[in-house]
Amino acid sequence: MKIKLEKSKRLQGRPKVPGDKSISHRGLILGALSQGTSEIIDLLESEDVQSTARCLRTLGISIERKGSSTLIQGRRKWNPPSIDLDCGNSGTTLRVLMGVLAGKQLSAKLTGDASLMKRPMKRVASPISKMGARFKLQNENFPPVMVSGAPLHGIDYEMSVASAQVKTAIILAAISAEGETRLSGTINSRDHTERLLPHFGGKIETLPGQLIISGSQTLYSNQIKVPGDPSTAAFWMGAASVIPGAEIVLENIGLNPTRLGALNVLCRMGARIEYEVTSTEPEPVGNIMVRSAPLQGVEILASEVPSLIDELPLLAVIATQAHGTTTVRGAEELRVKESDRLNAIAVSIRKMGGAIELFEDGFQIVGPQKLRGAEIETDLDHRIAMAFSIAALFADGESSIHDAECVAVSYPGFYAELETLVRA
Ligand code: S3P
Repeated sequence: MKIKLEKSKRLQGRPKVPGDKSISHRGLILGALSQGTSEIIDLLESEDVQSTARCLRTLGISIERKGSSTLIQGRRKWNPPSIDLDCGNSGTTLRVLMGVLAGKQLSAKLTGDASLMKRPMKRVASPISKMGARFKLQNENFPPVMVSGAPLHGIDYEMSVASAQVKTAIILAAISAEGETRLSGTINSRDHTERLLPHFGGKIETLPGQLIISGSQTLYSNQIKVPGDPSTAAFWMGAASVIPGAEIVLENIGLNPTRLGALNVLCRMGARIEYEVTSTEPEPVGNIMVRSAPLQGVEILASEVPSLIDELPLLAVIATQAHGTTTVRGAEELRVKESDRLNAIAVSIRKMGGAIELFEDGFQIVGPQKLRGAEIETDLDHRIAMAFSIAALFADGESSIHDAECVAVSYPGFYAELETLVRA
């Protein structure tokens, strides 16, 4: 599906931001691992989350949607799957299930779509093999992944990639292992699993630079209300910052500090963003108001990258409208996301007549630049599609976003909402 978009003179309203993708995956999986029936309110209904639900159902877990609630019947014993577990486009589903299935001592084959088949999995297989599980990967790194069940034991492991998916896979394997697991190194990625595990009765100690996870744990069902996804909200925050006269209010958005990198960078650029925290347990949540403002280029520090990794395509298009230089380094992980996002950002900015210097691990953009409408190839990557749809709102002329349906991976209602906001 091709979506045509034009420059917009306005952006106004209160977009309803769908549920946080990371919390939705974790809610389903923690519910499935717990004794009793868990309830998740406002679970994100997107293709990625459906991939997790589909795999869990294949493993014998009952998941039922009733209005805004999703009920999950947790089970200690899961069924050995009789078919391959299809994780679709979802790296979180595949990587986290590698750890969970190892913990359950189940054997299974995990597959996915063409994009997922190109994504590295050794980063999960290595630590969990050290715990006693056995994996077979394509060319020792890629799906399909075969997991073979075996009893696990705790490990001391120093992480070298700041990945919450890898961290979560290890934590959820560790809770079923014999003995304690200690994690150190790059553990500063989003911390939803650390926050949610105790909510389901689990034990995890978070010390400076270290996580300690007890083995042989039992989890107990609970209820979670999923806040709006800050990575999704970021598209509207970015758009409202640069479209003259724009004003938007975003309600009930997740404000977990490990997810606020893009909001902080936009504020440093001069964006007029105000927010208030309205509740804190088990995750901070609140409302955000954004009005347009002149922006300046900024340096995005390598240490900030884990807190804004998903928002970098959006921040790149916003940087084209800021005065001065925006630089990011230390973002090489972008090359192994749903597409090579560094490359996709550069190709599309240049197609729109903009300039960008690309590095192996980041980019530099000097603004402000006049962009013109273009044919945007999304590489079937939802965040590239949405970032360049926002660029289309301030580019001269018409843009065409190819394969725009890929936004359904995280935000099925994106184009309907965009239509409402520009018409308001
Ligand atoms: C996610 C972690 C991040 C992020 C992805 C969701 C998660 O990936 O890019 O969209 O839910 O844990 P990495 O863990 O690979 O950085």
